[in-house]
Amino acid sequence: ATYTKIDQDTCIGCGSCGAVSPDVYDYDDEGLAFVILDDNQGCKEIPEDLMEDVEDAYEECPTESIKLANEPFD
Ligand code: F3S
Repeated sequence: ATYTKIDQDTCIGCGSCGAVSPDVYDYDDEGLAFVILDDNQGCKEIPEDLMEDVEDAYEECPTESIKLANEPFD
């Protein structure tokens, strides 16, 4: 299983992740990305059929703000 979270301290709101993986990432009022699945808590498994999009987003984020892990984030 894979979990994802956005580091909003480094996200610059470039808009790539939400374009590449719109079922997983969206933007808050300040234009910073967050994970839709669990309100950016990193506690919900990414559905298998969305993993390819997530991996593409992960590779394309210019600030490496997309975090992936095999266990839920604290
Ligand atoms: Fe932010 Fe990276 Fe997405 S800069 S908007 S987390 S692609």
